[in-house]
Amino acid sequence: MDDRRRASPEAWAEDARLRFEALYERQASWDVPFAQPAIVELAARGLIRGTVLDAGCGSGENALHLAGLGFDVWGVDVAPSAVARARESARRRGLPAARFLVGDALSLEVLGMEFGTVVDSGLFHALTDAEREAYVEALARATRPGGLLHILCFSDRQPGDDGPRRISDAELRTAFVRGWTVRSIEPARFRTNIHGPEGAAAWLATVERTARSRESGDSGG
Ligand SMILES: C[S@@+](CC[C@H](N)C(=O)[O-])C[C@H]1O[C@@H](n2cnc3c(N)ncnc32)[C@H](O)[C@@H]1O
Repeated sequence: MDDRRRASPEAWAEDARLRFEALYERQASWDVPFAQPAIVELAARGLIRGTVLDAGCGSGENALHLAGLGFDVWGVDVAPSAVARARESARRRGLPAARFLVGDALSLEVLGMEFGTVVDSGLFHALTDAEREAYVEALARATRPGGLLHILCFSDRQPGDDGPRRISDAELRTAFVRGWTVRSIEPARFRTNIHGPEGAAAWLATVERTARSRESGDSGG
């Protein structure tokens, strides 16, 4: 893990909060007023199970879609203004099963919960390598064995360098080599406000939690 974050996770989370709040103040490129079609399709394919965590939920459209289908959903995001909007949308749409918290997805242990499904639409690709390592460890503690993690992220097939880091199939496989089984990594689209109606080239990775976290004494493998 990155030394700066290890020294002070709170100061690090505050930096992330300021960075993302500033992006939400201008119209953030990812902040579309509908659930990502790739996430909608996951639910239609029966790949959402149990209580759901939406990590880096933003203004909550994915979580709200899943709550509308009857799932209990917890959305966590470091940006308070996005969480406030998500809560307001849940209230207006009459979806009490969608709950939203301001929090750091790299410190999920504070929730004290285990989830059957974790959805990540755009968080993994927003993290540095060191943050990603801490995030995968946090996910391991928060996902029950047999639980599914779905990551929708920009792919290295997306030309140009506008927007977030591009992620390769190999990077996804490397991140989940211990304690997880990669079920599939499929080409998908990530809808944004700037990449036209088709959206940007993305990967939709589905990874299954296969072992308890290293902290519980398991070798994770
Ligand atoms: C690309 S946006 C995607 C938002 C939302 N999932 C969507 O699809 O619209 C990434 C989100 O991750 C949040 N984020 C970044 N770092 C975070 C962290 N450490 N913990 C929780 N949320 C974080 C940002 O505030 C932002 O809302």
